Amino acid sequence: MAALSTRRFALDLATPIVLASGPAGFGFELDGSLVAAVGALTTKTVTPEPRAGNPQPRLVDCPSGLLNSIGLENPGFAAFVEEYLPRVLDLPTRRIISLAADRPDEIGRMVGLLEEISEIDGVELNLSCPNVDAVIIGTNPALVGEFVRQSRALTTHPMFVKLPGDSTTMIPAAAAALNAGADGLTLINSVSGLRIDHRIGLPMLHRTTGGLCGPAILPIALARVYEARRAFPDALIIGTGGVTDVEGAIEMLAAGADAVGIGYGVMADPSLPARLTAELETWLTEHRYASPADIIGAAHRGGFDVP
Ligand code: SIN
Repeated sequence: MAALSTRRFALDLATPIVLASGPAGFGFELDGSLVAAVGALTTKTVTPEPRAGNPQPRLVDCPSGLLNSIGLENPGFAAFVEEYLPRVLDLPTRRIISLAADRPDEIGRMVGLLEEISEIDGVELNLSCPNVDAVIIGTNPALVGEFVRQSRALTTHPMFVKLPGDSTTMIPAAAAALNAGADGLTLINSVSGLRIDHRIGLPMLHRTTGGLCGPAILPIALARVYEARRAFPDALIIGTGGVTDVEGAIEMLAAGADAVGIGYGVMADPSLPARLTAELETWLTEHRYASPADIIGAAHRGGFDVP
């Protein structure tokens, strides 16, 4: 039987299938056995102050996916630490805390306060939400470097930086993050998209555009992960975007991801990540691979050993 643990990974995950930030909330909304079956939960993004989020509608159907516009609704950092974090720390999996802020010192302050909590397995700086008024920090390499630098100075926790997949500056932004001390990259966030109500000729979302997620963005996420792996052979990469079946997870690993984040797929079917973990193990065993490490980045070195 193949072992699913990924030891190259800073987090030493039991399986490379992880819950991406957002749809799984703070994790305790899901059945415990489903959480236990994944390598890690990335929490919903937390900001310094509470956020009510965007007006409804927040989700709009699209061919092969969804447009979302949640607007980072969350209880704020103080309430998160007081009321939610104790339950997050009880979850039967690794926990990565997702954070966002408008300024580097604000995100650094949160990262610094979490440093005292040794049961946290990592932090993810979400520099790429497409659904709020602030600039998308992840498109600006100099800003990305500053956000990471100020956070890195205050923590020893593994640190990931979530970047947009529809920016022409992803590689320079990723380089800035890694040079400033990030351990890894989470690629990608949802992709800016628009739907118009054909009956009235107006955008269906209040903020006009939203973030496209789901199978529609799988090829975009694969391309960005592939490019990042080629540019940064030693970086840790969590590949997130449109994976809804084991074939997609295998593609993501072959493109160069160390772990595969599931977001939209959880909304469609909360049991999906647990099923993917089991199906990946079966696939590796049937193909005589000892572990996911054997196939990570295979697309960069001649593909699989197909008999
Ligand atoms: C949202 O809250 O609108 C989505 C979060 C994100 O895309 O980072």
